[in-house]
Amino acid sequence: MNPWFETVLEAQRRAKKRLPKSVYSSLISGSEKGITLADNVDAFSELGFAPYVVGAQADRDLSTSIMGQDISLPVIISPTGVQAVDPEGEVAVARAAAARGTAMGLSSFASKPIEEVAAVNDKVFFQAYWLNSREEILKRADRAREAGAKGLIVTTDWSFSMGRDWGSPEIPEKVDFKALLKLAPEIALRPKYAWDWFNKGKINIPDLTAPNVADKGEPGPTFFGAYGQWMQTPPPRWEDLEWLRKEWGGPFMVKGITRVDDAKRAVDIGATAISVSNHGGNNLDGTPATIRLLGPIADAVGDDIEVLLDGGIRRGSDVVKALALGADAVMIGRAYLWGLAANGQTGVENVLDIMRGGIDSALMGLGRKSIHELSREDIIIPEGFEQSFGTPKV
Ligand SMILES: Cc1cc2nc3c(=O)[nH]c(=O)nc-3n(C[C@H](O)[C@H](O)[C@H](O)COP(=O)(O)O)c2cc1C
Repeated sequence: MNPWFETVLEAQRRAKKRLPKSVYSSLISGSEKGITLADNVDAFSELGFAPYVVGAQADRDLSTSIMGQDISLPVIISPTGVQAVDPEGEVAVARAAAARGTAMGLSSFASKPIEEVAAVNDKVFFQAYWLNSREEILKRADRAREAGAKGLIVTTDWSFSMGRDWGSPEIPEKVDFKALLKLAPEIALRPKYAWDWFNKGKINIPDLTAPNVADKGEPGPTFFGAYGQWMQTPPPRWEDLEWLRKEWGGPFMVKGITRVDDAKRAVDIGATAISVSNHGGNNLDGTPATIRLLGPIADAVGDDIEVLLDGGIRRGSDVVKALALGADAVMIGRAYLWGLAANGQTGVENVLDIMRGGIDSALMGLGRKSIHELSREDIIIPEGFEQSFGTPKV
């Protein structure tokens, strides 16, 4: 089999084949019935293109700048938490993003320390959850800055639904002998995955801790330990976000915006960027696809703040549709996790190349020479597609 795959869905098929069932299920799951999860992906199909067939541009420019970082394509790695997908985990993802000239968000719940990740990619944004006291949140952000993080992403939208109709992923509290024994039947069916965790005769047990929640060099709490601390912390208010933005002083993104009024508040607190996001369908099920909400938000605040979108991006043409509706860039989640599962660092590079190729051919078809020329004129938007909350009623 050719290790290079041509579509993100092929990466997903390979991830499904390679990963133990519970690990794969943790990547694909969403809240409750999965209405939002499905809409995030399906809504892109409702948008069409209006191509020019003569006059295509010979060279096309995909580069842009987000949160002060020049990136070679308008696609960034979205932060995702502890994943036992690949032994190199976030370090492999960071290398792949660097090789393809783009930035990476590193989750607070990542399995690798920020120091190791920022050492291989100089465009890393640290993603903070509102976890414990203000002082501790700031201490973690300062640690990230010291390691080389160039921006802070604050995620505001994860409710971690327990009720998933296709079953919640079973993540062991700790990968000890007992947990391995329980997972053994699944792992036995996935020998390639198990083999990956043997490195020159040494067994690397998947790390389900969150080292970026602890002090530098200290062992992190388990994923569920960190999660428990987070659940016990009262959620942030806008004043808290404003305080953190000022203390941090550098590029600052609020991730999880779905409403126009919230987008305006992010502008008011001086944020650099927002991501229109519903946590990949992992927040409140029934929230519309982010692509339906993007246009009105970008129209309202696009001149005052960088607007990103994440949720449902599976191909380059999805990226182009988001840019045409006003996004400055997008972030991808599952797409790169599947690439990582399918073929490690090369698999993530493969996914980024699929995105680049798809954006480039859509630009060519649309007769545009740069992503910055894209506008609503390039796409066909069916009536009623766009939805907007938090705008004054007229
Ligand atoms: C398995 C998984 C873990 C995630 N963990 C985090 C996280 O730790 N922090 C965060 O801000 N977002 C997290 N997200 C949300 C992603 O950053 C992003 O919003 C989402 O995956 C985008 O949707 P997509 O997967 O359809 O691209 C996670 C998503 C998935 C699928």
